[in-house]
Amino acid sequence: MIFAANLKCNHTRASFSLYAKALNDFLKCKNESVFVFPSSVAFSQSEHFFTQGAQNFYPCINGAFTGELGKEHLDEFGINCVLIGHSERRVFEDDALIKEKFDFAKAQGWRIFLCVGEDLQTKEAGETSKFLQNQLKNLDLSYEKLIIAYEPIYSIGTGVSADFKDIAEVLNFLSSITNSPLLYGGSVNENNIKEILNISHCGGVLIGSAALRVENFIHLMKGFL
Ligand code: PGA
Repeated sequence: MIFAANLKCNHTRASFSLYAKALNDFLKCKNESVFVFPSSVAFSQSEHFFTQGAQNFYPCINGAFTGELGKEHLDEFGINCVLIGHSERRVFEDDALIKEKFDFAKAQGWRIFLCVGEDLQTKEAGETSKFLQNQLKNLDLSYEKLIIAYEPIYSIGTGVSADFKDIAEVLNFLSSITNSPLLYGGSVNENNIKEILNISHCGGVLIGSAALRVENFIHLMKGFL
């Protein structure tokens, strides 16, 4: 099972170093199934027992892209794992940029966590599969370092996950078009994680709010690692 924490715009360099230390102390040795995406100013150059990933990057080595982060910046922290397509970034990024980022990350051989997910209106119109298929079109779903996170927008940060039956249906659909590991994300917490991880085709979780405190993140993983 994969456990990924998206810290979003939370934690400073100082507080993330405490977060990382506590997580390392818990993990005790390298664990390939635990990923944390801190804010880029909090990236750490230390060795960790989890994989540190980037929430965002620009598809360039370096260059005249004001405010962006290129490969050179990630390299300095040994980062070769990136999040692409999170709904909070899709607000600023169109499909063309997402494809550019995907292809760039693939060319670098980075691990890609690709987020997809529909809003409530799309779900209620019964158009989820069509919508997801569209988000995935033109992307190489056979890329061996790809992980796909299904994150319905209506469940992110609300405290209420999507219905287990709906998650199962979508993961089942995704498994028919890709062999990549599939995650669920959207208000995963201690009350629902067990059932979510039991859903068929669910290979793990992408957690936001419930992973902001390291002791909560550890608590969620206990028993599953
Ligand atoms: P949440 O965030 O767990 O706070 O819903 C999940 C995510 O945005 O990846």
